[in-house]
Amino acid sequence: MPAPPTPKFHEPVLVEAVLDLLRPGAGTLVDCTLGAGGHARALAGRAAGARLLGIDADPAAVAEAGRRLSDLIDKREVFVRHDDYVRLVAIVDELELKPVMGVLLDLGASWHQLRTPGRGFGFAAEGPLDMRFDPGKGPTAGELIARAPVGEIERWLREYGEEPFARRIARRIDENRPALGTTADLAMLVRRSVPRARQRRTLARVFQALRIRVNDELAKVRAGIEAAIEVLAPGGRLVVISYHSLEDRIVKTRFRAGAQAGELVVLTRRPVRPGAAEAARNPAARSAKLRAAEKAG
Ligand SMILES: C[S@@+](CC[C@H](N)C(=O)[O-])C[C@H]1O[C@@H](n2cnc3c(N)ncnc32)[C@H](O)[C@@H]1O
Repeated sequence: MPAPPTPKFHEPVLVEAVLDLLRPGAGTLVDCTLGAGGHARALAGRAAGARLLGIDADPAAVAEAGRRLSDLIDKREVFVRHDDYVRLVAIVDELELKPVMGVLLDLGASWHQLRTPGRGFGFAAEGPLDMRFDPGKGPTAGELIARAPVGEIERWLREYGEEPFARRIARRIDENRPALGTTADLAMLVRRSVPRARQRRTLARVFQALRIRVNDELAKVRAGIEAAIEVLAPGGRLVVISYHSLEDRIVKTRFRAGAQAGELVVLTRRPVRPGAAEAARNPAARSAKLRAAEKAG
């Protein structure tokens, strides 16, 4: 069998908007979702000598970003940590990186993760039902599915995938649990549960729902935004790029509450979206929405 093609690395999304909003200068910028280091490299390139901290839960992403940023790590302009961004406040304290003047959260999975069959995030190729950002932590998607009651699986699909066929798919999964070993097995069950014309979108929603559950993503987005607001110095900025309505709703609601409380100034009245050229060039950008806020002085 020919080897699967090597996935290309993640192309950073909405880079110009991120650079405009997170102006490197005095103080530290934190990229909470380093990935392959695309945004970090662009931010570091804008201001030589600025300090940047990159965090990612995925050890493979941290290793790749470390390689791509090694010249800057050697000059102690960039610090890279394998960690969960919910620990942002503690990490900044441990590394003595205050004041923090900018934080970036580029949510979800990277193109590289989605296209690496061995990680189990995608339905296009066969892989283990894993889906963990950090393969060293917590149960895999397969382990969660194996022990969850059918009603719980239905709830994940409905709440995290907004999937109209949630009940039907959950029942099909329940009836076929012993045969469910890989992403291809799951994809086949999903295909069999819905009309052909709806299969692709349904697959995307089901895989998204399970990934969100496995990584507890929505709770982490809430906690990450709180940590960012806490760690930012007055005048510091938070930029969040989200890729589906569940994430974007959390960001929008928290920013609005912060503005009403006088804690934040919202910098994006409407979310920034990629232009036609970026969306055509970079499929990962198509659903992106960027929102930014400044911590009040
Ligand atoms: C969309 S990618 C970021 C891509 C990156 N901006 C770039 O330009 O290459 C999102 C990254 O966030 C990481 N991630 C997701 N949840 C995380 C968490 N709670 N803590 C740390 N990293 C997380 C994922 O492992 C993934 O590498």
